[in-house]
Amino acid sequence: MAASVPISEVKGNTRENRTAAHSHIKGLGLSNGYATPSGGGFIGQAAAREACGLVVSLVQKKKMSGRAVLLAGGPGTGKTALALAVSQELGTKVPFCPIVGSEIYSAEVKKTEALMENFRRAIGLRVKETKEVYEGEVVELTPEEAENPLGGYGRTISHLLITLKSAKGTKKLRLDPSIYEAIQKERVRLGDVIYIEANTGAVKRVGRSDAYATEFDLEAEEYVPIPKGEVHKKKEIVQDVTLHDLDVANARPQGGQDIMSMMGQLMKPKKTEITEKLRLEINKVVTKYIDQGVADLVPGVLFIDEVHMLDLEAFTFLNRALESPLSPLVILASNRGLTHIRGGENLPPSAHGIPPDLLARLLIIPTHPYTPDEIRRIVETRTKTEGLAITQPALDKISQLGEKVSLRYALQLLAPASVLARVSGREGGRIDLDDVTECEGLFLDARRSAENLGQEKGFIA
Ligand SMILES: Nc1ncnc2c1ncn2[C@@H]1O[C@H](COP(=O)(O)OP(=O)(O)OP(=O)(O)O)[C@@H](O)[C@H]1O
Ligand SMILES: [Mg+2]
Repeated sequence: MAASVPISEVKGNTRENRTAAHSHIKGLGLSNGYATPSGGGFIGQAAAREACGLVVSLVQKKKMSGRAVLLAGGPGTGKTALALAVSQELGTKVPFCPIVGSEIYSAEVKKTEALMENFRRAIGLRVKETKEVYEGEVVELTPEEAENPLGGYGRTISHLLITLKSAKGTKKLRLDPSIYEAIQKERVRLGDVIYIEANTGAVKRVGRSDAYATEFDLEAEEYVPIPKGEVHKKKEIVQDVTLHDLDVANARPQGGQDIMSMMGQLMKPKKTEITEKLRLEINKVVTKYIDQGVADLVPGVLFIDEVHMLDLEAFTFLNRALESPLSPLVILASNRGLTHIRGGENLPPSAHGIPPDLLARLLIIPTHPYTPDEIRRIVETRTKTEGLAITQPALDKISQLGEKVSLRYALQLLAPASVLARVSGREGGRIDLDDVTECEGLFLDARRSAENLGQEKGFIA
């Protein structure tokens, strides 16, 4: 007798969401430029949020490139969260490149090279091309087979018959087998709306025809109307790339000089060194095409967190890079007061760990410590995002810790406390005061741990 195959039902298809440190932040939470009390998951810090809102609108108007903003404030005052909210407000069409100061140190690439690369990742180029395409809903898709020309028993696809339907008519096309592969790769099936580029044979699936919109579907589908006009037509196609994409794609000897072949290289990534000369060449071509109106420059944002990790050399480079005509908005964040700059230990300490000449060019947005009430509301928001239940006394205790120790420490205690609550079998896994106190004993904060060092032996000094 055959063994039975175990089959189990999948209950729902909502994935269990992972919560990261900033999962509760959904945006700056502004209305008409003013901060709402708890908009976008953000609580308090109103002035800084409004300032960031201004920065966002300047970036959108392309008036911010080549400038730099510094978020300055103590640890846990929401600097990283603010930068993240800025990127969410800008949307996916504006490049946002986040790095941490220490990322530029690697054995393989010079630190100025690493910085330059990230600068160019933060500058986008929107290329508009008018292409000759065949566009429509797929109403027939028949691969035609033939005897294998090399003999043997196998059969090969000799060509593909495809019928496309648009609002104005239908067209039957006979395609090369190589396009069949592209069609399979895009997972095109009957009822999809696609277009095929006439020159290159590239196939792009636009979505599912909305004639099928009622059909039961597990996956989220994008339904699109049947294309207007004829099947065979000229269509404007918009593509977003960053300058870094172009650098990488053209870091090979046979890179073409016009923008279309530069874009064409995108599909064949291969690593070679990107030289200063190549970048200048690319800048030249890009500027030419911007002037001709073929491409639009979309200066984005480069965010350098923990900027005090940069050294003197990197800061000097930053100064210069900000002055180049193709430069993004640079947002820096630092939690330092007066400190020595890396590589400048013989110089007097400077504010925020940033050299005075760079500091003088920055717009500085301060972030301030939170009031007990704000801390309480942040903790509450976090418990909701993490899907936890908590009693009032436990919430009070965690908020107190946020005040006395740090917001970060308080937020980090939530997850382990909820595990303890479940282990001790509390109703609905609700975190109680005892769980918080137990967690506080199990996990030290930075200050207590440092104090312990003074008393305990066994560490290597
Ligand atoms: N105003 C706020 N509203 C809601 N959550 C906040 C707010 N400010 C900070 N947080 C949350 O508190 C935690 C610490 O904030 P964040 O990491 O942004 O601090 P930071 O200023 O970058 O600190 P550091 O200087 O140590 O890097 C994060 O989980 C963040 O999402
Ligand atoms: Mg931070």
